[in-house]
Amino acid sequence: PFILSIAGGGSTYTPGIVKSLMVRLEDFPLAEIRLYDIDEARQSTIAPVVEKVIRDHSQSIKFTVTSDPEAAFSGAHFVFAQMRVGQYKMREQDEKIPLRHGVVGQETCGPGGLAYGLRTILPMVELIDLVERYADKRAWIVNYSNPAAIVAEGVRRLRPDARVLNICDMPVAAMRNMGAILGVDRHKLEVDYFGLNHFGWFTRVLVDGEDRLPQLREHIARFGLLTEDAAQTDPQHSDPSWVKTWRNIKPLMDHFPEYLPNPYLQYYLMPNEIVAHQDPNYTRANEVMNDREKKLFAAAQEYQRTGILPDAFHVGVHGAFIVDVACSLAFDLRQRHLVIVENKGAIANLPYDAMVEVPAYITANGPEPVRMGAVPLFHQTLLMQQLASEQLLVEATIEGSYEKALQAFTLNRTVPTMQHAKAILDEMIAANREYWPAL
Ligand code: G6P
Ligand code: MN
Repeated sequence: PFILSIAGGGSTYTPGIVKSLMVRLEDFPLAEIRLYDIDEARQSTIAPVVEKVIRDHSQSIKFTVTSDPEAAFSGAHFVFAQMRVGQYKMREQDEKIPLRHGVVGQETCGPGGLAYGLRTILPMVELIDLVERYADKRAWIVNYSNPAAIVAEGVRRLRPDARVLNICDMPVAAMRNMGAILGVDRHKLEVDYFGLNHFGWFTRVLVDGEDRLPQLREHIARFGLLTEDAAQTDPQHSDPSWVKTWRNIKPLMDHFPEYLPNPYLQYYLMPNEIVAHQDPNYTRANEVMNDREKKLFAAAQEYQRTGILPDAFHVGVHGAFIVDVACSLAFDLRQRHLVIVENKGAIANLPYDAMVEVPAYITANGPEPVRMGAVPLFHQTLLMQQLASEQLLVEATIEGSYEKALQAFTLNRTVPTMQHAKAILDEMIAANREYWPAL
């Protein structure tokens, strides 16, 4: 049985991930679960909920809650990382500062994602170093920390040999919706996909060897990437703002006549429409703080008071996916999953060393990317511009370079002019004083 540490133990996602682990104990046996967080207060609020989820399934798994990295990682076999540097109060800034300039306010796309990247790269590297110091030498870090594309590139640049696998639940969430539309379990889909994280396209959706993407496109043209009644099987992506996001795929499809775009492309390709519908005073960070966080904290309190735990946290593909990936790493299952990997020719006409999102076989030694071939000029060009923006942001972080940060902001498709880029960057520097390296 494994020792698993969750870095970012105080996240609202932790109970859902642990629940997913509990229903998979036969596939992924656990001796101990450790929660690790630098925010002790937040983690200690969530911990009793997590302990209850564990005890409902197992009496024998040891449960440890700590802010000490040595206690957290000593001898660990797996680390699930989900840090949010600056927490939701900084996500709020990431979203609101661009919006004040009429630019998309989003946690991973546009200036918000770049700002979040500047906060996260160096703490992520610190975490890797701690894990390498204390954990089992063969330990894997499975990393959900956002902005995943930039974090992956930062890790590649600064710790190229680290055993880190960067993942995102968006492709698999899309596959869950495809499965719901087609009436088949998502595990029966085999997809081809190319791109960067939160910036890519499905090119084939095979069910029993037959490509069902044409049928899906017909459905999406009418209802978006949702079942007709929008009844969702995953609570994580079924609130009104997510329903809107899934529906917004419709207009994108005219421009990608064969493929199915990742929903995040709407922020880059129809930013005006996104901004027109965003409330600059109440963004997604506010929604999450007032809904997901409040519900979970209230449930934790109620549990303390009554001993009864209300069902107030996310279970679904987010947790299920990270457990699937960990199983494949642990037992060399060579399962095919969409993950973020070094390109190595998987997308023939993108740089060999770009961090791309493609299907890969997950082995005990890491992901083996599947060749997706060369992509059309239109997509290649969009990808190259986004890649350049992300790579310059990573270089800005490493070198403390204002000029490179400004170039990264200017190259981002959500940012209309260089004046916008500078004004937003300068405001963000002030807001991120505690977190960013000096530029
Ligand atoms: C999806 C994405 C994540 C992102 C999350 C935000 O799951 O893959 O990268 O962090 O959505 O969801 P939220 O509910 O916090 O807005
Ligand atoms: Mn993601």
